Amino acid sequence: MRQTLLKNIGQLVNVREQDFLLRGSALTDLPIIKNAWLLVEGGLIVDYGSMEKIPAKLANTKNHLDLSGRMVLPSWCDSHTHLVFAATREEEFVDKIRGLTYAEIAAKGGGILNSAAKLNDASEDELFLRAWKRLEQVSKMGTGAIEIKSGYGLSTEGELKMLRVIKKLREKSPLLIKSTFLGAHTYPLPYKNDHQAYIKIIIDEMLPQIAQDKLADYVDVFCERDFFSPEETLQICHAALRFGLKPKLHANQLNNSGGVQAGVSMNAISVDHLESMDDDAIQCLSNATTIGTMLPAAAFFLRMQYPPARKLIEAGAAVALATDYNPGSSPSGNMNLVLAISCIQMKMFPEEVINAATLNGAYAMELQDKVGSIRRGKVANLIVTSPINSVAYLPYSFGENWIDQVMINGEFI
Ligand code: NIG
Ligand code: FE
Repeated sequence: MRQTLLKNIGQLVNVREQDFLLRGSALTDLPIIKNAWLLVEGGLIVDYGSMEKIPAKLANTKNHLDLSGRMVLPSWCDSHTHLVFAATREEEFVDKIRGLTYAEIAAKGGGILNSAAKLNDASEDELFLRAWKRLEQVSKMGTGAIEIKSGYGLSTEGELKMLRVIKKLREKSPLLIKSTFLGAHTYPLPYKNDHQAYIKIIIDEMLPQIAQDKLADYVDVFCERDFFSPEETLQICHAALRFGLKPKLHANQLNNSGGVQAGVSMNAISVDHLESMDDDAIQCLSNATTIGTMLPAAAFFLRMQYPPARKLIEAGAAVALATDYNPGSSPSGNMNLVLAISCIQMKMFPEEVINAATLNGAYAMELQDKVGSIRRGKVANLIVTSPINSVAYLPYSFGENWIDQVMINGEFI
């Protein structure tokens, strides 16, 4: 089996003998070994330690790399993206600069429905190729595990097409990929005034086929005023649960919509966004097993308030960070930028953002046994930085590319 020994690592970051979901003050605890070695074999992390105690037999390892002054981290776990889409929407970006509101843009044929029209026109092969390029880009920026949602089909055919694209990405890409069904992203125009008719299609047509073809791991609903109410969200998620799909929800993005409470009541894996939170919603997440996933790149791009990260952490909630990569509210899959925004705008500490983007992100995809920390037996998906002195430098030097190499399944890409 192919072995690679990484030697003289300046700092080996997020090393854990045992993993647990990090909440409250545990989020600040980022275990580091200085001047370390790490052995990769057959695509897995097999062992590590301090250079002072490196076993003599490792001197014979064929492949070895001197990483003096560099950091090695577990790769990013991006637990919320809409990376499969047909076309970008920069025209809306310019309209927003001119002062148009989200509603005005939607009335002009923009927004999610715009993406849905374009997606339904694109072939499965075209969609695959475009998404594949994005996946390659994000892996170079350090992402080693990623969740991808449907939600731009909004018809049985369109949703199944998107999910098949995600399935193919998963089969062909070395990254770890989880798939989420987001048929309840918005109501297609013919169903604007007949919500139950669309929900019936989701439950009676889409879900059975998705389950039969094993096309999704999770279900998502955009629980929001003028989109899906908490009651509609519960109705869809309970039906999806019967097909084995656990919920991961869009909650409390534009309004304090009750999405957090709906998610927690169903033991959702995560409730994501959280820009609009009152004390009740924060309290609800404080002891929950449901993870609060913050997507600050979307708040940045839409010029909205940021999620109350400090309040959530101090209340004891388990938080994760993800990109929300999508053409409408976060046209970037760059986790490094998400980390920087989180420190700069939400006053998270560098150790907290790294934990939230690795181990807690892995938990938000139920991939904690495979990725998210440096632990024996985990997949060797790693980031090697350029020479850097402290972890604080990573979010501090926002916009700089300090990633020198990325390893996926034990191979440098
Ligand atoms: O997570 N809020 C809902 N969905 C996406 C945006 C979708 C779009 O505008 O295309 C989000 O921000
Ligand atoms: Fe999203």
